[in-house]
Amino acid sequence: MEKRVISTEIIEEDYKIENSLRPKLLSSYIGQSKAKENLKVFIEAAKKRGESLDHVLLYGPPGLGKTTLAGIIANEMDVNIKITSGPAIEKPGEIAAILNNLQDGDLLFIDEIHRLNRQVEEVLYPAMEDYAIDIMVGKGASARSIRLDLPRFTLVGATTRAGMLTAPLRDRFGVVNKLEFYTVEELSTIVERSADVFKVRIDPEGSDEIARRSRGTPRLANRLLKRVRDFAEVEFDGRITGEVANIALDRLDVDKFGLDNMDREILLNMIHKFDGGPVGIETLAVAIGEDPGTIEDVYEPYLIKSGFVARTPRGRVVLDSAYRHLGIINSKERKV
Ligand code: ADE
Repeated sequence: MEKRVISTEIIEEDYKIENSLRPKLLSSYIGQSKAKENLKVFIEAAKKRGESLDHVLLYGPPGLGKTTLAGIIANEMDVNIKITSGPAIEKPGEIAAILNNLQDGDLLFIDEIHRLNRQVEEVLYPAMEDYAIDIMVGKGASARSIRLDLPRFTLVGATTRAGMLTAPLRDRFGVVNKLEFYTVEELSTIVERSADVFKVRIDPEGSDEIARRSRGTPRLANRLLKRVRDFAEVEFDGRITGEVANIALDRLDVDKFGLDNMDREILLNMIHKFDGGPVGIETLAVAIGEDPGTIEDVYEPYLIKSGFVARTPRGRVVLDSAYRHLGIINSKERKV
């Protein structure tokens, strides 16, 4: 039987657009070697025993391939995947219906699982542990709870913030994988593979340049590749050389380290308004006019990884390399 991808509207568009670029097998998935090697063992073991795979939690910054990995797991296990997200499920009855409609072995992918509300989450506990849900029937004095058995499914949860999961939910995942930022070499290979899918000619210098400026993130690398391709086709002869990539990425305001306008805004605000820090995330968010969660999930991890910002118990501080990168003299003796 043809395996299906059943998705709810929220993720559907995103999934479809990127689907052509997503690898389908672990062997063609680049990077994340630790998560990949471990998953390979768990998948093989589950298949050997003829069981469903234990529940899997994937966490890490956005764009590192959590949805892609979920798709690969389903493919490798040869099961259907149903895709939904934390904020899309509002009521306990909705998650109960989703679970009840699964078939034996199916994989349920819940993106942004940290955003499930408490009542919905509580339906998941017995579902994950005992493959059953308790539903209330009747009203008033005759109300009682009946237990409904579920098929043996695998829940794959994805989150940008493992710390925001409640302990009972986190503890019910048998496999927990942290996804890391990709190296330039890994991203360059991904860009070459995507260029092949798009049928665009690219030099190694071109893919390296895009990779260097993609802040360790395949989703960004693929997005930048598409935009660079536009420049290559309209203003050059269609081939992405190192020079074409360089010019296009400068025009896109993505700097040599992959920082964009928002990253620079964050660093400049920290330097000019808060004397380089320490500054609390909430205070910084107000100064910039951005959601604190977005700064914390989307921007900060890469700024920290690149050594531009550090977290201290008293707040975030800008590090010397950021001053050097921005060409600003650090007149202050930092007191970290
Ligand atoms: N496309 C996006 N992420 C990828 C990955 N990790 N490996 C291969 N192709 C990808």
